[in-house]
Amino acid sequence: MNFKIALIRGDGIGPEVVEEAVGVLETVGARFGHSYEWIDVLMGGCAYDAKGTPYPEGTKEACQRADAVLLGAVGGPKWDNLPPALRPEKALLAIRSDLGLYANLRPAALRPALKAACPLRSDIADKGFDLMLLRELTGGIYFGERKRYQTEDRGEEASDLMKYSEMEIERIGRRAFELARLRRKKVVSVDKANVLETSRLWRAVMHRLAAEYPDVAYSDMLVDNCAMQLVRDPSFFDVLVTENMFGDILSDEASMLTGSIGLLPSASIGDRTPGLYEPIHGSAPDIAGQDKANPVAAILSAAMMFRYSFRLAGEAAAIEKAVDLALSSGCRTADMAGSGAPLGTREMGKIIRGNI
Ligand code: NAD
Ligand code: IPM
Ligand code: MN
Repeated sequence: MNFKIALIRGDGIGPEVVEEAVGVLETVGARFGHSYEWIDVLMGGCAYDAKGTPYPEGTKEACQRADAVLLGAVGGPKWDNLPPALRPEKALLAIRSDLGLYANLRPAALRPALKAACPLRSDIADKGFDLMLLRELTGGIYFGERKRYQTEDRGEEASDLMKYSEMEIERIGRRAFELARLRRKKVVSVDKANVLETSRLWRAVMHRLAAEYPDVAYSDMLVDNCAMQLVRDPSFFDVLVTENMFGDILSDEASMLTGSIGLLPSASIGDRTPGLYEPIHGSAPDIAGQDKANPVAAILSAAMMFRYSFRLAGEAAAIEKAVDLALSSGCRTADMAGSGAPLGTREMGKIIRGNI
């Protein structure tokens, strides 16, 4: 098959890890008989530098015309003092929203070879874990009205509106139950219903859905407790579904339990639009341009592209196996604990390609 893939290389380590993922896609193409049309798309800080806007005209359309989008990361200190509308992160939110990518799948599993890199006590790490964090991606506080204004007697004041509709909650909730049916049939919905009205609505909708999926075990959990349960016993979780900001925070926490943030891929999916695949990590300005970044999250994002956009599970599994083989033979970039000299980004990518 021929696939049209839009590449948003982005900023910092973004281009470095995307390059390795593209190499892996090419290798999989050669082995399984696929070819690609690559479409380089400008977005983020690099787009601001080149065009004066992080989200140039044509970026959305180019992504819409593709079969899938692969993204590195955007943002960095260079653009941190721009007005909010010109920040690279604003473009990321815009593309997610414009493509209708409301479901963000962030799988966090402890790969057997990385038990020693898991920061948890060994009796917990020995049990292993395999959870799917499903993050609502186009609603909530990320997309509500923002204000900042001067008051007469309290200095400046700012507010961010958190809003959810039944429609938004129901569609992500259904995804959670459908995903659980393909896994261990257990959904934990994470909210802050003891305080937030959006969470009370969230919980009511989830309970209604739970009744439609009697074969799936369902429970609620408050987000502060969830942050704690994730380090107490991550094996408790199968599908964890939550709103946008809670999902952002909990997925960075979950990533570290797998050994490093440089390992966790993600798939952002809508109803009938191309999916967007990206590592959960950012542009890592502290290590950018030094061949130090871990390319595994980007490479596993390419595997998710095969699984969720192209419906080619064999190709996805081939990539995942190649990553596991590299890890079990002791290959480590600097972010993963381990003995011996760490491998660079390019060397790690090359070894994974060689394993396919
Ligand atoms: P970050 O994820 O970029 O980095 C946090 C820490 O993790 C750093 O020490 C970094 O070196 C390390 N790290 C991250 N990815 C790594 C990898 N692949 N290999 C090895 N180490 C890795 O988070 P941050 O520093 O808070 O954010 C930096 C910039 O990235 C900010 O501008 C932020 O807005 C942006 N960001 C973008 C995305 C995205 O585009 N999807 C995601 C998160 C953050
Ligand atoms: C992520 C990132 C983004 C988010 C930022 C860069 C806007 O942290 O993809 O996890 O918060 O969604
Ligand atoms: Mn994040």
